[in-house]
Amino acid sequence: MLRRLYHDQPESFAFTPENLEWAEAQITKYPEGRQASAVIPLLWRAQEQEGWVSRPVIETVAEMLGMAEIRVLEVASFYFMFQLQPVGSVAHIQICGTLSCMICGAEDLVAVCREKIAPEPHMLSEDGKFSWEEVECLGACSNAPMAQIGKDYFEDLTAEGFAELLDALAAGKVPTAGPQNGRYASEPLDGLTSLTAYDSGRTQHNASVARAEELGDTIKRIDGSEVPILTPWLDRTDKSGKGAAGKGAAKPKGDKAVKPTPSKQARKTKEKSSAPKGVKSEKETVAKPTAVAKGAVAPETKPGTLPAPREAGADDLKLISGVGPKLEQTLNELGFWHFDQIAEWGLEEIAWVDNRLRFKGRIERDDWMSQAKTLAEGGETEFSKKKKK
Ligand code: FES
Repeated sequence: MLRRLYHDQPESFAFTPENLEWAEAQITKYPEGRQASAVIPLLWRAQEQEGWVSRPVIETVAEMLGMAEIRVLEVASFYFMFQLQPVGSVAHIQICGTLSCMICGAEDLVAVCREKIAPEPHMLSEDGKFSWEEVECLGACSNAPMAQIGKDYFEDLTAEGFAELLDALAAGKVPTAGPQNGRYASEPLDGLTSLTAYDSGRTQHNASVARAEELGDTIKRIDGSEVPILTPWLDRTDKSGKGAAGKGAAKPKGDKAVKPTPSKQARKTKEKSSAPKGVKSEKETVAKPTAVAKGAVAPETKPGTLPAPREAGADDLKLISGVGPKLEQTLNELGFWHFDQIAEWGLEEIAWVDNRLRFKGRIERDDWMSQAKTLAEGGETEFSKKKKK
């Protein structure tokens, strides 16, 4: 099956502030230079937010991770879990069509999808509320046939019961997940034959269904506000002696504890990157946390900026490896137009710029300064040579 970008793409994509915070936290899991390892979590979060992976999603993730867009597209198009076309606004239904489900009636469920949603998989229903596809074994074979709807499994389905489920979803309800034939979990259909003593200790639902009921987010798009963002790997680096309550600690819902550091800086970056052009050229030194994950405070110094390019015109900053069109635009908005400006940055200047880009560490990782120095002197880098070809 060919997996291509959808023909009709949205203009733009942006993570919600909470999802951006989450994404920034994920990136900090990986050592310097290995941020690309976060590509699947970030793509997945974007899909949880939007329902599918669009070209702007790919561009955004590529820029956040310093990856070539084609590399991110390769990942998104390789894994079938990524939807490359719009899905139903209420739910995307995934029918298991593998052996157990097939011999127990999966074809009847597919027939319901064809009749009630759309004749072909990955097509939107007329009202745009639903889409469907057949998928490989989802690991609930003893409760065949089954379907995944949103985040939850609906098992032991019949065609009639499944059609009613779709009607309930269309009416805005969220049906109870799990076995739909009265089974508790995956015990034999005619009841337990062993461990019968446990029968009397059952709660209303099995643990998976109980959790699904508790969260109630079967078909909810994830905007990031659902659960606290846990960053234990950052907490471990906290030397303040405050333990989990220190900087970088997770914040329980409704608690006034400090949120993970990347979030604050992500928001700050967003505000700063939309600052108007015409940045002053004088330098100012402000002490701000630049390595907050470790509880450290590093000074930042504003580098020399220009309100506009010099008369000969701006340099093509995209010739620096790691600078794409969006980053170039942000750099211009901050007052950087020329290679020689970037070549002069020291550690404190890097800290200032880093705090205004979308995520930290990129400048040093790609060594923009030595690239810019070479380009400013009229030379070429390996990357600039390739880029010009
Ligand atoms: S065959 Fe359907 S869940 Fe395994």
